[in-house]
Amino acid sequence: MSSPPSAAAAASPSSSSSPRRAELAELAERAAHVEVDTEAAAAWDGEAGAGAGDGGDGDSAYEDGTSAASTSLKSSVMRYEWKHGRRYHAYQAGKYQFPNDEKEQERLDMVHHVYYRCLNDRLFLAPIDPDKGLRVLDVGTGTGLWAIHLGDEYPGAAEIVGNDLSPIQPSWCPPNVRFLVDDVELDWAEPRPYDYIHCRYMAGSIKDWPRLIRQMYNNLVPGGWLELQESVNTPYSQDGSLTEDNPMVRMMDGLMEACDRIGRTVNPAPSMERWVRDAGFINVRVQVFPLPVGAWPRDPRLKEIGTLLTINFAEGVEAFTAALFADVLGWSKEEISVLNAGVRAAAKNPDTHILFDFLVITAQKPEK
Ligand SMILES: C[S@@+](CC[C@H](N)C(=O)[O-])C[C@H]1O[C@@H](n2cnc3c(N)ncnc32)[C@H](O)[C@@H]1O
Repeated sequence: MSSPPSAAAAASPSSSSSPRRAELAELAERAAHVEVDTEAAAAWDGEAGAGAGDGGDGDSAYEDGTSAASTSLKSSVMRYEWKHGRRYHAYQAGKYQFPNDEKEQERLDMVHHVYYRCLNDRLFLAPIDPDKGLRVLDVGTGTGLWAIHLGDEYPGAAEIVGNDLSPIQPSWCPPNVRFLVDDVELDWAEPRPYDYIHCRYMAGSIKDWPRLIRQMYNNLVPGGWLELQESVNTPYSQDGSLTEDNPMVRMMDGLMEACDRIGRTVNPAPSMERWVRDAGFINVRVQVFPLPVGAWPRDPRLKEIGTLLTINFAEGVEAFTAALFADVLGWSKEEISVLNAGVRAAAKNPDTHILFDFLVITAQKPEK
């Protein structure tokens, strides 16, 4: 995707090793920003796969191949950074302020289920049929679960590519799914445009959203669809039970300030419709879904979502605050611990009826 696509951690179990090695060698030569040991990468590509080389987060079925390949893989993408007791991405280190360790991966997988349930068990809302041989791109794929789920549900999709700064995707996935380590903020150099581009839950990640959306536009076929899924990161309650002094509000305010300071807004959702229209998309549609935190809703589906989001905040709060509150806002370890404890308690408080709005923006590139 970026120029050139960083094949260092391309994990396509189906690719044959020698053309793959040649491709990796060529790409490594052209890639100034990614160090690639093509021998090891080729071995790793076939035997272990993305996410396997971090000493425990990979697919255990590949344990032997994994450890052998990963110890010899001299790629910068695997030299993870550790700070505040958490592990962070290595490629383009420092760009993304949230961890990529096993605990975070479990959280992301749980949140995938939340979003799926939130959309009434749908992965996308764009009017597409991936089974008609569509080529799909998932921007900032994380653990790759959305892409894998799509590949499972739509075996007729020609290709589903997921890219991310972190090689934390499993190697065992549907045959039409593959993953790349890439920085979507660099210039894209896709060999072919996609039929559908999906981008979910990238708050706090991107410096220049209009530019990213223009690149998405330029890399869609005429008539192709874009889908952005993002929560509005200003919590509220309908009954006044969420007050300004609630630790959840203080945490979100702190995240807002920290992300503003580093120029990567934590609340892109409200501006997305405008950015999409400005890029030239048509048939723009914005759909809003409620995301409750807590088991308080009567509706069973919302209760399930709320229960999982309680876990998300209770277990995930450290991931949200560790780097941004310490390194950007300059809070002490003790101050962060007190806030984290407050957020845990707030998320579990059955009397506080916290809601977020989840936006799904679908938009089409004109046919001409
Ligand atoms: C909160 S996670 C969401 C993952 C996935 N989209 C999902 O919905 O489960 C955000 C992801 O964006 C990735 N990311 C952030 N900045 C990126 C960039 N410039 N290029 C590629 N991926 C990026 C992070 O590494 C992380 O995996």
